[in-house]
Amino acid sequence: MTTDQISHQSSEASQLFEPPADFAARAHIGSMEQYHELYRRSLEEPEAFWREITDGFEWMKPWTELLEWEPPFAKWFVDGTTNISVNCLDRHVAAGRGDRVAFYWEGEPGDTRVITYSDLLRDVQRFANALRALGLERGDRVLLYMPMVPELPVAMLACARLGLVHSVVFGGFSADAIRDRVNDAGASLVITADGGWRRGRVIPLKGNVDAALADDSCPSVGNVVVLKRCENDIAWIEGRDVWWDDAVADQSDECPAEDLPAEHPLYILYTSGTTGKPKGVVHTTAGYMVYTATTAKLIFDLRDDDIYWCTADIGWVTGHSYIVYGILGNGATSVIYEGAPNAPKEDRFWAIVEKYGVTVLYTAPTAIRTFVRWGEEHPDGHDLTSLRLLGTVGEPINPDAWLWYHRVIGGGRCPIVDTWWQTETGGVLITPLPGAIAQKPGSATLPFPGTEPQIVDEQGEALPDGTRGLLVLNRPWPGMLRGIYKDGWGVPGHPGEHGDAERFIEQYWAKFPGRYLTGDGAVRDSDGYFWIIGRVDDTLNVSGHRIGTAEVESALVSHAAVAESAVVGTPDPITGEAIAAFVTLRGGIDASDAMHAELTAHVGEKLGRFARPKQLRFADALPKTRSGKIMRRLLRDIAAGREVAGDTTTLEDLTVLAQLRGDEE
Ligand code: WTA
Repeated sequence: MTTDQISHQSSEASQLFEPPADFAARAHIGSMEQYHELYRRSLEEPEAFWREITDGFEWMKPWTELLEWEPPFAKWFVDGTTNISVNCLDRHVAAGRGDRVAFYWEGEPGDTRVITYSDLLRDVQRFANALRALGLERGDRVLLYMPMVPELPVAMLACARLGLVHSVVFGGFSADAIRDRVNDAGASLVITADGGWRRGRVIPLKGNVDAALADDSCPSVGNVVVLKRCENDIAWIEGRDVWWDDAVADQSDECPAEDLPAEHPLYILYTSGTTGKPKGVVHTTAGYMVYTATTAKLIFDLRDDDIYWCTADIGWVTGHSYIVYGILGNGATSVIYEGAPNAPKEDRFWAIVEKYGVTVLYTAPTAIRTFVRWGEEHPDGHDLTSLRLLGTVGEPINPDAWLWYHRVIGGGRCPIVDTWWQTETGGVLITPLPGAIAQKPGSATLPFPGTEPQIVDEQGEALPDGTRGLLVLNRPWPGMLRGIYKDGWGVPGHPGEHGDAERFIEQYWAKFPGRYLTGDGAVRDSDGYFWIIGRVDDTLNVSGHRIGTAEVESALVSHAAVAESAVVGTPDPITGEAIAAFVTLRGGIDASDAMHAELTAHVGEKLGRFARPKQLRFADALPKTRSGKIMRRLLRDIAAGREVAGDTTTLEDLTVLAQLRGDEE
């Protein structure tokens, strides 16, 4: 997709929402002057800027060299050593803040737990000792496939404490997706649960792991640790499977943290790209730690009396950075909710806000659009006056949804931070700072200190304000990805330092050397505000979940009945984009309703339910140019029910077009 193909909401004169005076008066960054000065310093005096920030963290060896930048390879806080679990836990407990609540956990069936920083530190150390007892060593990879329960952050932090590299796989992914990720990461351990709750149903997490590992298809895995959550029946493999409770039973409450180099890999998170194979994005220790905590503090304006709630799943980057690392890095108190927003009823989110007195709420535009549809009576039935700040993430927010969020949820008094970022960026790059930057509904506004976004054309030339182009980052920042995982990264003595350098360069740096290509189209207005339009590559954004068209296509053609497929995105009022698939079947196979259902389910099995196409159409052939390229623009028009635009004279077979539109005679 090119940028001019995307219909763009207006960036023209739009309403300006100034930070409320009482909010600004108490905010960390309370004026535009302060923001400008901070931003200027971050670019002109980066050493001093970051030194001041990192002095607040605990280092085993403080850094002396800020940055080694050999594009596209960056090392931040180069010679420092630290441990992120110490900074998220021990540091706060040592400062006498051990009794502060780290997590208020709310299970879907209504069971709850309150976990203080001291509790969390103890649980993390015990579990870290259990990991050690299972024989894991620095650099080993651990795959986590878990529900939204406190043991998930416990497991992540325990890995981080030992220098193990975790890879969390969202619980909505299928067995096939787990298998691919286990094998790509070479994981030696999988941590899962018997099940997780979703709308009163049990998601069979352990069953999916069993299916993924069946027939010796993941030879690297030695053990599977299983948390008991739903008490559902599960299969058990003696010698391989270990109950979580048994693993920690005899472990000590103390486990000294490993002293890790700044660039030791912290985690791998798989994300969709332009090819069928997901990329294992690698984040490292110190830069990610500093960047997520700093962005969390200034963007969510975190204070001691805040109750923060991010509704994302920890299986996505938003949960990694803004439920776990960035939030605990500030010693803040947050809510974790296990289930769905409509379980048991459509008011569950607002009941949670009221119950815990949530002050800062961070959610996704797709959720907001769903709430709009469910109706105002659900939030109206609850006291939401504790809220003081709202945030959104994951996709562009349409101004109507923004205004509804502001009025109905925020009571007209809460600033909204529309935060633009990616799995690769580690933390937020473009966002309002809520006490300083006036908001325009639909704009992510201005760059976070230390970052330098720019809009350029296909040649990399800067475009004037008001012209759409490609969004790039002109300089490295501490939270940026360090590469794409490939065998051995992080194992002491292993030469795999940059991972899959070729793919890393090709994906993000080859087009404009030295500059990071985001894959998003954007425009900057005359106030310098950034408006994100959407992906300009073959990545879809469905309900804020990134899915590669190529991934869905390969899932479809892996079905024996399918000869060829093409997948495009189509606008959807709730999910932002929806998946539309076009399929040609092998000879002799009927395009029946049953086949339609079977293929939709097949994609669900291959990738996960959330990746199932919303539309699926059959045709005898796919529309191709004479040179054999699938005409995706035309397919997008068909999927959206638009008049087929542009030149179809190069189309090989016009009857195909009629068939796809469903207007055969
Ligand atoms: C999109 C999620 C507009 C964008 C943190 C990006 C957004 C992709 C916004 C990354 C926003 C994220 N406004 N678009 N505030 N935030 N996006 O890796 O297209 O799951 O490239 O990271 O989501 O998705 P990812």
